[in-house]
Amino acid sequence: MTYPARVTIVEVGPRDGFQVEPEFIPTELKVEVIDAVARAGVRKIETSSFVSPKFVPQLADAADVFKAIDRQQGTKYTALVPNLKGAERALEAGADGVRLVMTSTETYNKRNVGMTIDQSLEVCRQILDRLKNETTRVEAVVALAFGCPFEGPVSEDRVVELAHRFADMGVRELSIADSVGLGNPRRVASTMMRLRSELPKIAFSLHLHDTRGLGLANVMAALQVGIDTFDASIGGLGGCPVFPNGAGNIATEDLANLCEEMGIETGIDIEAIQAVSRRMQDFLKRRLPSRVLLAGTPGQLYAKIRKEAG
Ligand code: COA
Ligand code: ZN
Repeated sequence: MTYPARVTIVEVGPRDGFQVEPEFIPTELKVEVIDAVARAGVRKIETSSFVSPKFVPQLADAADVFKAIDRQQGTKYTALVPNLKGAERALEAGADGVRLVMTSTETYNKRNVGMTIDQSLEVCRQILDRLKNETTRVEAVVALAFGCPFEGPVSEDRVVELAHRFADMGVRELSIADSVGLGNPRRVASTMMRLRSELPKIAFSLHLHDTRGLGLANVMAALQVGIDTFDASIGGLGGCPVFPNGAGNIATEDLANLCEEMGIETGIDIEAIQAVSRRMQDFLKRRLPSRVLLAGTPGQLYAKIRKEAG
């Protein structure tokens, strides 16, 4: 079995995690978290989203967050956007990239962004055109790629077809998202393998929620077919805005630990990530689901044993 030598972890806690928190997280704390994550070695951070503040009041301060962060050289600060207005706001705020979100089923896309899939694709074309002379990169997300809580299973053909449509219009980076945790390792491997072979010029990444405990199993399946970029959130922060008991993303420290234990480089200081996750636990007054946050890395455990043994 071969694995990538290096994995890129995209921190999405400040967007996907924060957006479902009912209590407003002060802008300064958001900025503190983003800065700490960047200092911990994360090279791409989904910093916020430029969506309607009526839909997601928690992220109404997106522009202020972008203004206040202490940008680390080499780190890309991106934002999720649903439409052209969002892309304009992201550009204005100085985002390094925008991720246009589109869902693979009509029902959810309508609910989430008020548009049909064709309309979202058209929006993508407009955003590509609007940003063609800017340094802000355009990525697209195919959400609910492995199943939809309203329409049921989503076929692999459907996901591949949507990926082709984005690729045909000039998108070069595509995030395949299992937003409610309905994927399984076999399906993830086969979808990602097919996408990579049919669209070799596209940089694919995976966005996995751990709702049914398959998050890291899905990562393993994807690693084995050559996927090297994954979203994750500090402490496993997040949930599903629509369905109760939807879990957050795979945890950044769990993913980094998996990679490091297997000799795959991530460039991430796990201890620094654990510290940010603890900071959020203190603020939220609840335990976050990350296993490595709770138990420590093997290295941390062995160091403790050595210390106790004198
Ligand atoms: N940022 C801020 N405001 C926006 C906006 C954006 N990107 N896009 C639209 N708006 C505003 C409009 O100006 C309008 O404001 P008004 O009521 O003061 O006139 C209002 O939002 C409604 O806009 P409209 O074009 O009628 O769209 P809608 O009501 O169908 O909502 C979205 C469309 C895309 C704005 C909304 O569905 C949305 O924000 N969705 C994001 C959901 C999300 O973040 N999901 C989780 C991440 S996957
Ligand atoms: Zn998500």
